[in-house]
Amino acid sequence: MGESLAVLRKMPSSCIDLIVTDPPYHTTKKDNIYGDKAFKEDEHFLEWMDAFAQEWQRILRPNGSAYVFCSATMASRLEVQLSNHLKPLNHITWTKPNEPGFDGWKGKMNKESLRRWYPHSERVLYFEQNSNTPAQKSRLAEFLREVRLQAGISGHELTELVGAYGKVNHGGAVSNWETGRNVPSREQYARIVEVLLSTGKIANMPPYEDVVRPFQMAAHLEYTDVWTFPSVRPYKGKHPAEKPHEMLAHIIGASSYEGDIILDCFSGSGSTAVAALTLNRCAISIDIEQQWFDRTVSRVETTESVSPTTSLEAARSNRKKRAIESLFD
Ligand SMILES: C[S@@+](CC[C@H](N)C(=O)[O-])C[C@H]1O[C@@H](n2cnc3c(N)ncnc32)[C@H](O)[C@@H]1O
Repeated sequence: MGESLAVLRKMPSSCIDLIVTDPPYHTTKKDNIYGDKAFKEDEHFLEWMDAFAQEWQRILRPNGSAYVFCSATMASRLEVQLSNHLKPLNHITWTKPNEPGFDGWKGKMNKESLRRWYPHSERVLYFEQNSNTPAQKSRLAEFLREVRLQAGISGHELTELVGAYGKVNHGGAVSNWETGRNVPSREQYARIVEVLLSTGKIANMPPYEDVVRPFQMAAHLEYTDVWTFPSVRPYKGKHPAEKPHEMLAHIIGASSYEGDIILDCFSGSGSTAVAALTLNRCAISIDIEQQWFDRTVSRVETTESVSPTTSLEAARSNRKKRAIESLFD
């Protein structure tokens, strides 16, 4: 429990794989959410968020990602502000089906009295670690080019040695990786490592999970930037802004590997931590209010993690758990 900015400032650099966080929206002005009415001017809220983004960039690993929830009203300005520190990838619209029991007073509202379109969606801003490179480029792209040049191999030679021929042009795959158009598969990366180490000019190469930003998609999953997840039905003790488990699991499943460290620094009732643990990830949750900290602890204590899928995952998971413990020594 604590004030997040102060806690983040004490954390070491590059220690977090994924940030999933839900700050006070500022525009909703809810009395029952700490900080929601703290800023008189929008600018002050944006400056406050900027200070967080600066820390997020510092603590996020080079292949890390961040998801930030916000209101539709603040989304554009917030995205511009946060892009001072992180690289925007998507501006996701989360729409909630209007099912009875989920939509509060919306079903009963007087539509004739509206003065603009009813805001039926919230936004989720998705970023990757900033590489200070042109839009298409990523840290991975830069890294792959850097190590290839260090090894003294041309793009054409690497293509030959890895056997990753493009369908139409001969050196296609390597140049696509190095411009950030796509990423090598696990098998291709293993072959790149083998080839680069064999030159004797590169001493070691990091594992795949430490360099490739996770984005794990499957045919049965929602793959667009418009999401439909029902909001959490009211229940006794519910956080006023509790986010649905399925949506958090959707984010964490796509944007992290098993054993990764997931941070939520506006954690409320601990929904992100519960989703992370359920998917065999590690979680750090911070909230300023005692009641939500207590609620998080009790939810986490009753959450069962799934077993790691492979012994490699188990080893990563243990390594990362030890890393979390050392953050708070
Ligand atoms: C929108 S809610 C998060 C709800 C959460 N996603 C859930 O599912 O329960 C924002 C939370 O941020 C917390 N908060 C506000 N300012 C904070 C700060 N400076 N440091 C830590 N927590 C803060 C509030 O107490 C509140 O619980």
